[in-house]
Amino acid sequence: MEFNVKSGNPEKQRSACVVIGVFESRKLSQAGEQIDSVSEGYLSNLLRRGDMEGKLGKVLLLHNVPNTLSDRVLLIGCGKERDFSDKHYQTVIAKAITTLNETGSMEAVCFLSELNVKGRDTHWKVRHAVEATQDTLYAFEEFKSKSDAARRPVRRLVFNVTTRKDLAIGEKAIIEGLAISKGAHKARDLANLPPNIANPGYLAEQAKILAIANDKIECKILDEVELKEMGMGAFTAVTQGSENSGKLIILKYNGADSEQKPIVLVGKGITFDSGGISLKPGERMDEMKYDMGGAAGVFGSFVAVTEMALTVNLVVVIAAAENMPSGNSCRPGDIVTTLSGQTVEILNTDAEGRLVLCDALTYVERFDPDVVIDVATLTGACVVALGDQATGLLSNHNPLAHELLNAGELCGDRAWRLPLWDEYQHQLDSNFADMSNLGGKGAGTITAACFLSRYTKKYHWAHLDIAGTAWKSGKQKGATGRPVPLLTQYILNRSNG
Ligand code: BES
Ligand code: MN
Ligand code: ZN
Repeated sequence: MEFNVKSGNPEKQRSACVVIGVFESRKLSQAGEQIDSVSEGYLSNLLRRGDMEGKLGKVLLLHNVPNTLSDRVLLIGCGKERDFSDKHYQTVIAKAITTLNETGSMEAVCFLSELNVKGRDTHWKVRHAVEATQDTLYAFEEFKSKSDAARRPVRRLVFNVTTRKDLAIGEKAIIEGLAISKGAHKARDLANLPPNIANPGYLAEQAKILAIANDKIECKILDEVELKEMGMGAFTAVTQGSENSGKLIILKYNGADSEQKPIVLVGKGITFDSGGISLKPGERMDEMKYDMGGAAGVFGSFVAVTEMALTVNLVVVIAAAENMPSGNSCRPGDIVTTLSGQTVEILNTDAEGRLVLCDALTYVERFDPDVVIDVATLTGACVVALGDQATGLLSNHNPLAHELLNAGELCGDRAWRLPLWDEYQHQLDSNFADMSNLGGKGAGTITAACFLSRYTKKYHWAHLDIAGTAWKSGKQKGATGRPVPLLTQYILNRSNG
C-alpha cells in the first residue's frame, strides 16, 4: 500500500475515486460543499431527496458527478459533527477502505483527513488514517488454501490536507503510521500463528532475522541449559515439562549514544499455556496460543522503533516457553530458587507467567535500564476488571505510569492504572518459601503485579497486563497488535523530548 499527502481541490482530482464526508443530518463537509458548488448542487439534491442521511458508516457511491475529474465520488456518513471523535474518525476511514476495496477503485484521494476531530491536528489525523487503513487491510491467510482477497484492492491512497504547509507534517505522519502498522502487523502475525509453529525456537529465529538486516541490532539467544546454569530456577520450572526448549531472547537496538541508558521491554512469551499440571479446562484452550501476546507486542514495538530509526537505545527481552503437563513438569508444591535468590513455592502451575517474568526481570538489571516495562497476558482477572478495552497498568514509578497513560490516550491504545499498594503483598505469603506464586481470592491482577514488584526494586518499572486487549475471541478471533501503538508512542515521545 502506498500513501501520499496532497493539498488540492476535490473537483480537480484525476483519480478513480474521491472520498468525501457527510455529517448528520445531510450536512456536507467542506470538500463536499466544493464539489456541490461546481456540480451545480448535484450532491445537495441527492441529500435532499433522501439518498443519504449522513449516519456513521453509511456510504453512497456516485459515478460521473458533473464537472469533476474523478471517476467516482464516495460519500461516507460521519454521524453528528459535534460527536466526531477519534473512534468515529477511525470508523469512517475503515469504512472508506472496505468500500473502495469492494468497488474496484485501486487508488483514491481521501478528504476525510481534513475533517475536524476534537483536539487532533493534521499529524494525528494522517498518522491514524494510515494506521486505520493498514489495520483494515490486515488479513492472516497463511493457512488458507484459497485467499478471499479483493480482486481489485486499493493500492494507493492520497490524504488531502488543508494547506501546503501541512504537507511536510503529513509526510512525517505517514512514515510513523507505516512503521507502527508494520510493528502491529508483525505482532499480529506472530500471535495468530498456531502454537505448533510459533514455539520458542521460532520466536528466536524471528529475532535473529532482525539482527541480520540491521547493523544497529544485536541478538542473543539463551537456551534452557544456559538458563538453568545461570540460576533461573523459576523460568526453568515452567519450561522443564515441554519437549520444546525454552529460550531467553535478547534484542538490542543501539540507536543513540552508548552512554544513554536503554528503555527495556520484557515480554511474556508462553507460546502455549495449557496450565501445566494445574491443567486448564478445555473450553477455548486454543486461545492460549495468544499467551505469547506480550512477546509479540514487544517484538512488534522493536520493529516499529527500528523502522523509524529513532535515536534511543532499546532492549527487548522475551521469556519464551511452553507450559505443558508431562512427567517432567513442575508440580504444585515445588519450591524453586529464582535468579534473584528469592524462593518461590509454586502453588499453581497455571500461574506460570510471573515465574518466567521474574527471572527475566532480574536478568535485565545488567542493562542499567532507564525504565523497564513488561508486557504480559498475565491474568484472567484483568479481563474481568477491564474487559477488552483497557490494558491494565501497574507501576512503581508515578511519572512513568503517567507517561504511559498519556501515550495511550494519544494513540487510542489505552491503559488504566490499578494500585500496587503494599497492603496487597501479604496475599503472596507462603508457609514454606519466601513467597507463593498464587495471590488467593481477590485482586488477581494486582497480586500478580505484586509478585513481579519483588523483582523490580532496582529500577523504574511498569507492568502492562494485556490479557483482555491482545486478542479478540469469538467470530472475529484474532490478535489485535496491542500494545504496539501504546509502547511505540511512549518511545516516540521519549525520543522527541
Ligand atoms: N495466561 C493466563 C492468563 C489468561 C487467562 C489470560 C485467560 C487471558 C485469558 C495465565 O497464565 C493464567 O493462567 N493465570 C491464572 C493465574 C491464577 C492461577 C493465579 C488466571 O488468571 O487464572
Ligand atoms: Mn497460566
Ligand atoms: Zn499464561
